[in-house]
Formats: sequence, structure tokens, C-alpha cells
Amino acid sequence: MQTIDKVNALKTKIAAIRATGKRIALVPTMGALHDGHLALVEEAQRRADSVIVSIFVNPKQFGPNEDLDAYPRTLEADRAKLLAAGVESLWLPSVAEMYPPGFATVITVADLPNRLCGAARPGHFDGVTTVVSKLFNQVRPDIAVFGEKDWQQLAIIQRLTIDLDFGIEIIGLPTRRAEDGLALSSRNANLSAKERVVAVALPRALLRAKAVIEAGQPVSLALQSAQASLIAAGFHTVDYVAYVDAKSLEPLFEQGAEGRLLAAAKLGKTRLID
Ligand code: PAF
Repeated sequence: MQTIDKVNALKTKIAAIRATGKRIALVPTMGALHDGHLALVEEAQRRADSVIVSIFVNPKQFGPNEDLDAYPRTLEADRAKLLAAGVESLWLPSVAEMYPPGFATVITVADLPNRLCGAARPGHFDGVTTVVSKLFNQVRPDIAVFGEKDWQQLAIIQRLTIDLDFGIEIIGLPTRRAEDGLALSSRNANLSAKERVVAVALPRALLRAKAVIEAGQPVSLALQSAQASLIAAGFHTVDYVAYVDAKSLEPLFEQGAEGRLLAAAKLGKTRLID
């Protein structure tokens, strides 16, 4: 596996791959790789000839009081996992390479980022869409693979890709879960043993809310009891439990074919989403 840390070297590598007529897939990550990331890599390998994984903990998507410094960093283990998975190239830019002095551009998608996680984390999605636009321009992949766990992020990236004519096929992959149902996330590494036990209340609350909605009960009741059950289980704050349309992310007030239940809640210092 080739590790590339300079934009010019990346462009040379991409041109060489393109010259062979190969289809290129990008899997953007912030590292601390787990089986969910490896499933994205596998899907990318199924759909393309050459897979490039990026690892970049993007400071622009963290607010001033968020966990940029505490974000797990496990580069050597990540490298070993990617090597074992047969990944061809690792794109590993530094912050200075990604955002050289004078960098002054922000890519903003309108509306979609203002709700759910965006309401709790102002500016977060501008950071995401700015770095993803850069990654798309740097790699110019045919496809890019993202997890569905951050459903809002996926919806925003789909909008961004259409609006800016990137011509990249965006693939969303269902969330990978631990045996007890907790969604795999790099941030799970920051949970204490006690918090890890409590964390499973999040997927359970969503499953219960789904059953309530499917039984024809009011959506508001399902959401309120999910929120209450998270606090009762030991979550400290709940940013939201919402039932929304999968594409527009507008709230749904009754069961809809395209409805998605989404939640974000904080356990100690760790914010979990599902
Ligand atoms: O989902 C993530 O890991 C990040 O938000 C992404 C898409 C790699 C952008 O930094």
C-alpha cells in the first residue's frame, strides 16, 4: 500500500491509475478505523478497480468546544488494517497540506445542514462539505462510499455532489453494529466501560420508537418516550430524537415510506449518533 501525503504526489498517482483505464473509488475517513470502515472499503473494492482511502481528522468540522484533541488517532493500527484489506493507496494529508496558509474557502449546502446535528453543532457541516469537496477534487473518484450512520451527512453530500456537478456516484452503506446493537463508531473508543454498557440504550430506544410508529401510535409519543428512555438509561443530554423524511430531512408527523428515525445524545464527553 502506498501512503501519499502531498497533493502533487496524489495527482501523479491518480493520473497513472486513470491512464490504465481503472475505475477509482474513494473512502473518506477520519481514521480510528473499525469494521464499519472496512465494510466501506470492501464495498469500494467490489465496485471499483482501485481504492483510495483518506485519513484526515478535519479540524474544520469540529467546533471550538468539541472533541478535536480527544478524537481517537490510531494511525499504525489503521495502516495495518488497510494493508490487510488490500487497499492500494492511503491519502494522508497533514492539516497544512489540506489547508495551506491563506486558505479561505467554505463550501456551504443550504438548508439541510441547519437541522438535527447541524443545529447542535453550528458550522460542522460546512467543515464536512468543504473537506469532502477538496477530497473529491483531489482524487476525482468515480465513486465515493460513506456510512449511513451519519444519515444527515450522507444526504448533504448527495446534495453537494449533484449541485456542484462532481459526477461522482455516492454510495451509502447500512450501519455496522456491535453484537448488542450499538452502531460502530470511532468515538466508541472514548466510552468508559460503564458508558459502553449504557450506550446500547440508543439503538434500543430507536427500535422501540420504530415499533411504536409502525403500530400506528402518534410519532410525537414515540419520540418523547425514546428521549425519556435515553435520559433514564444514563445519557446526560439528548440533542434530538427525530423522525424525518430520508431526503429532505423534514420532520414527519405520521409513518412514511421514506421515514428515518435519527438520534444524537451525549454520554459523558462522548456524543453518539444513530
Ligand atoms: O464521516 C466522516 O468520517 C467525516 O465526516 C468525513 C466524511 C471523512 C469528512 O471529514
